[in-house]
Amino acid sequence: MKTNSSDATLTTLAREAIAAAERAYAPYSKFKVGAALLAEDERVFTGCNVENASYGLTNCAERTAVFKAVSEGATRFKAIAIAGGVGDVAMPCGACRQVLAEFCPPDAPVRCVSLDGAITKDFTVGALLPGVFSL
Ligand code: THU
Repeated sequence: MKTNSSDATLTTLAREAIAAAERAYAPYSKFKVGAALLAEDERVFTGCNVENASYGLTNCAERTAVFKAVSEGATRFKAIAIAGGVGDVAMPCGACRQVLAEFCPPDAPVRCVSLDGAITKDFTVGALLPGVFSL
């Protein structure tokens, strides 16, 4: 994998994503997800999934992190870690891939880690969304 961020950086992000997953509001699915996003200015923004009784209003952990960051003035990101899943990692959904592609270079690393940290799989934003829609 081509990386702009060191493995140590991704390990730290993964730890922060696991901690963020603990704050998931997921009373309906019980499926906790956390994300930790590294901005170009070195700030880290975390996010968790936030569910709603009207299911379609649920916001994924990755988009929570991105929207927090953009609302705080960070719009370019170097890397993201996503924590979710037991026995395997949770992969980012299609909507989150499109949102990540908006704000990250295609070679930005995406580290997916299981909730207990035992399993790690590395991707890039570009590899996760070939043929990205853009204007
Ligand atoms: N979820 C995320 O937080 N990120 C994804 O990329 C996929 C799904 C959440 C949404 C919902 O709260 C739960 O996982 C089950 O779909």
